Amino acid sequence: MKSFFALPGSVIEHKTMGSNIITKIFDFPSAEVPQMITHFDQLMNTFITQLTKGPGFDRSWIKLLADIEEIVPSIVTPSPGHKGLRSWERTANIKVQPNGTIEADLFPLVRNCVGSLSSKEMMGHVFVDSHPDFLEDIWQVDANIMGFVFGMPSWLPWIARARKSRTRILEKLIAWHTEMEAVGPVADSDADCAPFGDVSDLMKQRQKIWSARRFSMKARAAVDLSILWAGHIPRAYKSPKKSNEGDENRLNANSNSTVYWMLRNIYATPGLLEDVRREIAPACLTTNDMLQIDWKRLLNNSPLFKSCYFETLRIDSASWSFKRLQKDCILQEAGEDARPPIAKGKPTTFHMQKGDAVLVPSDLHHTDGRYFPNPSEFRPERFFVNADDGHVQSEIKSIRPYGGGATMCKGRFLAEREVLAFVAAMLTCWDLEPVKGSSWDMDSRAKTSGVSSPKDNLRVNLKRRVT
Ligand code: HEM
Repeated sequence: MKSFFALPGSVIEHKTMGSNIITKIFDFPSAEVPQMITHFDQLMNTFITQLTKGPGFDRSWIKLLADIEEIVPSIVTPSPGHKGLRSWERTANIKVQPNGTIEADLFPLVRNCVGSLSSKEMMGHVFVDSHPDFLEDIWQVDANIMGFVFGMPSWLPWIARARKSRTRILEKLIAWHTEMEAVGPVADSDADCAPFGDVSDLMKQRQKIWSARRFSMKARAAVDLSILWAGHIPRAYKSPKKSNEGDENRLNANSNSTVYWMLRNIYATPGLLEDVRREIAPACLTTNDMLQIDWKRLLNNSPLFKSCYFETLRIDSASWSFKRLQKDCILQEAGEDARPPIAKGKPTTFHMQKGDAVLVPSDLHHTDGRYFPNPSEFRPERFFVNADDGHVQSEIKSIRPYGGGATMCKGRFLAEREVLAFVAAMLTCWDLEPVKGSSWDMDSRAKTSGVSSPKDNLRVNLKRRVT
């Protein structure tokens, strides 16, 4: 895995594969594929410059953090009627108990709340307000990804539904792009260009490229839909109310599900919740119902908490990287991987040819007992290392939840901060307890090619903590 990911970008083809996927699934106009391939690197480069470092990344993160601090302390509220409910409360089927606790389905609550906050951060309020239920449409498209990939006919009712959802989001995105184009080049700083001031620098940057390269609004919308989808998809989850006839899909991963599993893993492991709460308390200050997160402290001084994140990714992500080779190459297994009993004791050499398709399923390594003893057990201490000054620190070690090489996930830094801040806020502000008939029991994962989805519907009581 390590030597494959170390291959230079020139050996691995990804432009054609990427363009095929967006054409089939997101209705990218096939006539514009050659243009897309020509400008692929310029567009992808915006992820590197705006999502992995620099002032645009900092601005995005500060905005997202402020929303997490504001929303999570009141993620559920006793509301008099359906109309006043926010999208995540509505989909979580919340019910207020006479003793004041609030009952909710945990997975839809988390995935829709995380999804709403990150979409607003990326797209700004104009898009989110124009289509408040767009996440529901994304789940509908997601549930039928394989139908799009295999071109299943639209007279099948679930394909028809997924197509309708896709059309609805694409129409809103086309309108959004048309309006943005009319405003003209949008500056990076927040103060300018109302009403698009709160659009992320990433989207503003891409807007300039779309416009300069004269891509159609439909092409822009299809690619944005793929970004919204890639940032949010949880797979195989079946809503307790609606049956998703569509299949589970086989692509990508997301932070929404990671938040859910991290919470569930921490609650399900005896004694861990108390230890984690003790560790993160100095970084999560609450006064008069206000939450303030010292995120640098959370990231750098909470080895147990951060290791819970890595251990969640080890157990609950099964990220698959698909690649096609542009040149012949020879790969040699690393010495330590050739150890018996699984390997023969002698490193194997792989001869691969131009045009070969390669699939790297990182979960095989994540669940290999030679590297992670008792791999099905949740043991965050696996990721502990001793720093030079003797302090315990947390390190990602050899897991590869974000893939690797030139196409390694560009959202990984934002995802890590987002997941850690959201989970820390939930643990600080809320006590969760499964209702009768539900449990933290961990046998409910549906393995996918991304972050797992729950097979069960974990319903919990949420009680506001007084700290
Ligand atoms: C815990 C959450 C996440 C996980 C586990 C994850 C995992 C992955 C994986 C496995 C890939 C494919 C890498 C490869 O080809 O080897 C990928 C690609 C990508 N991800 Fe993520 N991702 C996460 C969150 C995000 C978020 C929040 C964003 C955006 C805000 C994002 C943006 C991207 C992009 C743009 C790519 C394509 C990179 C390229 O082709 O150069 N990801 N991700």
